[in-house]
Amino acid sequence: MKSRDYSPLMAQFAEDYAKHSPKSAAWHERAIQYMIDGGSNTLRLLQPFSPRIVSAKGAWVKDEDGHQILDFWQGHHANIFGHNPEMVTSALARAFSEGWGLQTGFTDRLQIEVAEIICQQTGAERIRFTTTGTLATMYAILLARTFTGRDLTLKVGGGWHGGQPWGLKGVGYRDGFAAMDSAGIPAGLSEQVLITNFNNVEKLHDDFRRYGDKLACFILEPIIGAGGLMPATKAYMQAARELTQKHGVMLILDEVISGFRFRAGTAAALYEIQPDLMTLGKAIGGGMPVAAIAGRADILSLAGRGGKVKFEGGTYAAHPACMLAGKTYMTYLIENEATIYPTLAVLGKKTRQVVTRAFADEGIYVRFAGDRNEALPGNSLHMLLFPYEEGHELMTPEEVRNPAICDLALSEKVLQLGLLLENVFTMHGLGSTTAAHTEADIQFLGEACRRFAQRIKPYL
Ligand SMILES: Cc1ncc(COP(=O)(O)O)c(C=O)c1O
Repeated sequence: MKSRDYSPLMAQFAEDYAKHSPKSAAWHERAIQYMIDGGSNTLRLLQPFSPRIVSAKGAWVKDEDGHQILDFWQGHHANIFGHNPEMVTSALARAFSEGWGLQTGFTDRLQIEVAEIICQQTGAERIRFTTTGTLATMYAILLARTFTGRDLTLKVGGGWHGGQPWGLKGVGYRDGFAAMDSAGIPAGLSEQVLITNFNNVEKLHDDFRRYGDKLACFILEPIIGAGGLMPATKAYMQAARELTQKHGVMLILDEVISGFRFRAGTAAALYEIQPDLMTLGKAIGGGMPVAAIAGRADILSLAGRGGKVKFEGGTYAAHPACMLAGKTYMTYLIENEATIYPTLAVLGKKTRQVVTRAFADEGIYVRFAGDRNEALPGNSLHMLLFPYEEGHELMTPEEVRNPAICDLALSEKVLQLGLLLENVFTMHGLGSTTAAHTEADIQFLGEACRRFAQRIKPYL
């Protein structure tokens, strides 16, 4: 690992950015009077301050200072068609104009239709809606613990399932992924969460040999988000299914990112497996807060009347306006599946190619985690990496998040602020390409990367 000091560059970026975005700077001063660090989601709070957005359409957003910014964060990877997709905004506008959509506290036919769509597209027997992926994964673990009568949860190091008690171990990398990553968790809970290594079949066999009969569930993402946006290998996913089945452990696939991102349904189908439970969110809401737990009827029934798990869904669960957005979006995805997903695949590949070329032209070696992909066709989710040396596989979070292997400061904070000065918004080393990004947008990104590469060269 080389020692690189970006502090003079970051100071220069911050100075340039203050001049570039004085109105967003002023809004930030106002924001920190009331909100912790100036907002309500830590990821969105850039340093020294975030651009404050006034409008958004497709791949682009506009900020308070009038900049048109090309967005690759795209609603935390929720957007398949960019921001404010017309099919959803017009359906909502029509409903609101008819005085319908903000009534809560009842059930209606829409949530039945959305439930039918999801069950038909995912092979789930039953579904219950909630408002966030975080709640979905928490309830899924509660259900699995109750169903099996066991205590232990196995999760993958580098896996992010939202900020809930069972999800907060093994998220941050410090010589590995074991420690609990938040204070305030009930005593003893940390010992009930075991961490395994993504894409390491041998370690998985070992974990099941040792703990298989004590495990309630194994929760993992088909494509690991925070850990690098790379897909599980087919061998890994199939081992996960076989081992969980053999030991009576509930397999929970967290498809909050991957659901409806690679096809109009789950990624699990592409691995030819069916989990016991799955969690969904992001894309299924079409830009609105919809999440769900779906899967086996015998497990989900534990949440029903007379069941043991106090899973209430919440005040705004299956909110009518959200259900309308979700139904409209998923119906569009299903009807246009044959064109949308190949388009995403082509644009995703193009994004990686253009960015790699821009840096290579300036003599800088970059790689994308998840660039080789046997299982999920067309990865449109990207984490750009700056490995110190060539030759690493970069197929596990242990490699990708290891500061001795990849220059993490460069792919996170330096890249983010540097590209923002070029009017490109990125997160965790880029983000996602949507069907709203055009070839010209991707070239715009390439040119931004080229200028960024020229600015960082002296510091490498
Ligand atoms: C894989 C995965 N699971 C769960 C969550 C939590 O979802 P939410 O942010 O809707 O609570 C996220 C959020 O990024 C996620 O990526």
